[in-house]
Amino acid sequence: MTPQKPVRACLCYPHTFAELHILALQLNWQTAADITAAVGCGGGCGLCGPYLTRMLATGETSFDIRRSEQTNSTQQDREESKS
Ligand code: FES
Repeated sequence: MTPQKPVRACLCYPHTFAELHILALQLNWQTAADITAAVGCGGGCGLCGPYLTRMLATGETSFDIRRSEQTNSTQQDREESKS
């Protein structure tokens, strides 16, 4: 049995990554900034920003928890989501 990856939703806004992925395909959201503008995810604490970017790039909707060395892009993702 494969363990489930624990990160599956934005914590600040009530949306799962699975739901956001479907909406991204339907509404042609290309960037995390598109998601933030539409539903807010990524624009709160910003922790989901790297996951949103990866979801858009790969189609994944559940993730392992990012380690600190993997969060260097968090600030960049946050800035991109505000632009
Ligand atoms: S977890 Fe998505 S904005 Fe805070």
